Amino acid sequence: MGLDITKIRQEFPILDNNTLVYLDSAATAQKPKIVLDAMNSYYCTSNANVHRGMHSLAEKATIAYEEARKAAAAFIGAAPQEIVFTRGCTESINLIAKSWGSANLRNNDVVALSLLEHHSNIVPWQQLSSEVKWIGIDDAGHVNMEGLDAILKEGNVKLISITGLSNVLGTMTPLQEIIQKAHNAGALVSVDAAQLIVHKKIDVKELDCDFFSFSGHKLYGPTGIGVLYAKQELLEAMPPFLGGGSMIGEVTTEGFTCADIPQKFEAGTPPITEAVGLCAAIDWLSQFDWTDIAKHEQALMTYAIEQLKSIEGLHLLSQLPIGCLSFTIPGIHPHDLTDMIGQKNICLRAGHHCTMPLHKHLGISASTRMSFAIYNTKDDIDRCIVAMNDAINTLTL
Ligand SMILES: Cc1ncc(COP(=O)(O)O)c(C=O)c1O
Repeated sequence: MGLDITKIRQEFPILDNNTLVYLDSAATAQKPKIVLDAMNSYYCTSNANVHRGMHSLAEKATIAYEEARKAAAAFIGAAPQEIVFTRGCTESINLIAKSWGSANLRNNDVVALSLLEHHSNIVPWQQLSSEVKWIGIDDAGHVNMEGLDAILKEGNVKLISITGLSNVLGTMTPLQEIIQKAHNAGALVSVDAAQLIVHKKIDVKELDCDFFSFSGHKLYGPTGIGVLYAKQELLEAMPPFLGGGSMIGEVTTEGFTCADIPQKFEAGTPPITEAVGLCAAIDWLSQFDWTDIAKHEQALMTYAIEQLKSIEGLHLLSQLPIGCLSFTIPGIHPHDLTDMIGQKNICLRAGHHCTMPLHKHLGISASTRMSFAIYNTKDDIDRCIVAMNDAINTLTL
């Protein structure tokens, strides 16, 4: 049926006056009013702590929180007990590394990462004593599958932790194939889906990944909430990540026992209002057809590439990107460019995008990124290109 982008834009208060050109959704997406309203309404009518109170508000809050878990589970084809709410994708990956990693990885064990990874999917593994090996990429920005085969052949690989979609190059990794290869070699796979989750329909059971992490705020939901999916048997065997209230069965002067999953991993007061917001975001996004979303975003991508190619010397860092693309322009520092166009309310991102190993591999220290969401239009791209040309003219004077 296609998407009614004009109507969709009207649902985003921040896009109201049409002066903002927001092409930085890979950093965080804007929020539809329905998400803001859900959170406001929760605070106005149902605010209480979850899982502990006997009063009716506590019951209402617990129901809202657990409904959000069910919605997150259904969204990716998981069971509710396989969903742990965290503060974000970064915390989800840290939970895997600190809990599963500390319990299962020894000095000679290998964690394989790709050069595409965000620092969130690098540093937690470097903090462990196991070895990190790197899967390379080709010139188009795609994962080198022979490199992966070679690493798996060397042995001792216990985990491949890999992004589903690069937050710089916009290249998708062949997850199904990687997961099959990993499982054949006796390794598990953790998917960093921070970017992927908003561009592609995911079924974790079909994918057969072992861990899957994402943040609410890139999915049109609030900040402060993330999702960790892990197969039930893994979660059951993993030690708790944080200690405190809610994650225990019993505490005595001698020690403690753990609550069942997923509560075992949710110490302290969880992000309740944020869960309500995430639930609203998932409901809102679920009204659209994934094929329509992909078609719309791909049309924007094709158009953006055409327009960017008209800028002299502009070098695109990848081929066939999805969701975002990055580029360099000789003689123009990405920070200067984005600062100048930013003054006109046009938002692109500049820097290493938390992917220093990738930028080092590409032989650059920074790039400029343009990223797309459901609410973007060709007009956004046109206005951005005009502003970029003005800025380049000024900067090369
Ligand atoms: C690929 C990727 N992984 C992980 C993250 C970390 O997400 P968060 O900062 O929401 O924890 C990001 C954020 O940009 C990302 O793009």
